[in-house]
Amino acid sequence: MPNVKRPTDRVSDYTEKYRPQFHFTPEENWMNDPNGLVYYAGEYHLFYQYHPNGRKWGPMHWGHAVSQDLLRWEHLPIALEPDEYGMIFSGSVVVDWENTSGLFTGGEGLVAIFTHHDEQLGIQSQSLAYSQDKGRTWQKYDGNPVLTNGEEKDFRDPKVFWHDDTNKWVMVVAAGQKVMLYGSKNLIEWDYLSEFGSTDGAHGGVWECPDLFPLPVDGNHAKKKWVLQVDLGAGAIAGGSGGQYFIGEFDGVSFTNDRPASETLWVDYGRDFYAAQSFSDLPSADGRRIWLAWMSDWTYANELPTNPWRSAMSIPREVGLRETVNGDITLVQQPIAELRTLRQSKLVIENEMVDETVNVLANQAENVFEIVATVENLTASEFGFNVRKSSGHDQGTIIGYRTNDQQVFVDREHSGESEFHQAFKGRHSIQVKGETGCVTFHIFVDKSSVELFLNDGEVVITDLIFPEDDSKAMEFYVKGGEVRLVSLELYALQSTWEHVTGRK
Ligand code: FRU
Repeated sequence: MPNVKRPTDRVSDYTEKYRPQFHFTPEENWMNDPNGLVYYAGEYHLFYQYHPNGRKWGPMHWGHAVSQDLLRWEHLPIALEPDEYGMIFSGSVVVDWENTSGLFTGGEGLVAIFTHHDEQLGIQSQSLAYSQDKGRTWQKYDGNPVLTNGEEKDFRDPKVFWHDDTNKWVMVVAAGQKVMLYGSKNLIEWDYLSEFGSTDGAHGGVWECPDLFPLPVDGNHAKKKWVLQVDLGAGAIAGGSGGQYFIGEFDGVSFTNDRPASETLWVDYGRDFYAAQSFSDLPSADGRRIWLAWMSDWTYANELPTNPWRSAMSIPREVGLRETVNGDITLVQQPIAELRTLRQSKLVIENEMVDETVNVLANQAENVFEIVATVENLTASEFGFNVRKSSGHDQGTIIGYRTNDQQVFVDREHSGESEFHQAFKGRHSIQVKGETGCVTFHIFVDKSSVELFLNDGEVVITDLIFPEDDSKAMEFYVKGGEVRLVSLELYALQSTWEHVTGRK
């Protein structure tokens, strides 16, 4: 097979400028959406949209990596290459436990359901590939494509799951500016079920990369809701591409939206969380729904100043549903617990009054770290963190909270390199609902990103930044009054690429 990189042909030691230390990146070249996230035989699989011969989007393949802990990834050879039906666009992987497809000689195996994109004819259709050796080699199904659509030019990104109540596979697939649902007993023959969304939610661009799954509300399994997440190529809340979600019911045929059609719920209020996909087949004993997304925005994705790779995935996040004080049900995202294993040195501050004359983080210097903080507002007009800061480079990224209008924001106006695209700079904000006496910040900072989880994941802001490596200063700042720092923990984080770098 061409383009196959063996582990010994390392081209990167993961120490380049901007190289993420605890986020997934391909060693080199272009990556976009996560694909085929699945847990099987003790391994998490991450496939991804990949162009193995360039740092810009091009003929799409599926790159591949595996991990035992969702943090430390081992790169594997390319899983799927373009063929006579076109490029290999986004899709999902399921474990066909019962061999419903009949594709396996004995027992079970992995089935990939992906979009074939024929650039010349402008046609998109859904196809299959299967693997009986834990994803190491893949066979394309010889009856491809298995699902076509004569009407929609944009017909892509199938996410498939097993629906127990109706005893069949269900596919949710993006079609223009709606999603279509199909059902199948064998993953090969698909029947149309329904469609959703032409008049619901946001329509600033073509819909892409849907996902559909049930979640308990506040952990109560007797109270279940279905979440339909779907991305839009343009016109998202922070500008550019982004994700929205709907909460409702799914009866095996149709999805019904609990909220008014005119309402849009946003997945993330930053610019760089796109094409989120959740893992299939996590063991029921685990019980979590975990997703991750491509940390970029189509507006400038092809111009990002990294070399020899381009793009990273977000940290894996556990998703849940929470009933808020006003009775609404909202999606919450929290960093997966496994991330705690990366914590190294620790600083703890407790119960300290802070005003604008002090910086309790004045002696700290980190560029790969995590902060967990609870702040009780007393009289301040604004407070928060300034990270990846340096006076020499005049850099800093502000993650703050403004009290008069309860606005939480990430401001990357002076975060570092930004000339590569005029849309990159800016401030991304959202008004927080509900009680605001106490604010909790959970922040992950890597070489070229910040992820903020506010108030236990009720609001999330994900933004790329490109500061100098030595922009390591940080500040907890308060404006116009006083706050009580109930607690603050700061952890330097260990690299997840030690198996590549040889560093300890
Ligand atoms: C989303 C997307 C998908 C498509 C893939 C192509 O980012 O546009 O809709 O399958 O990327 O790489």
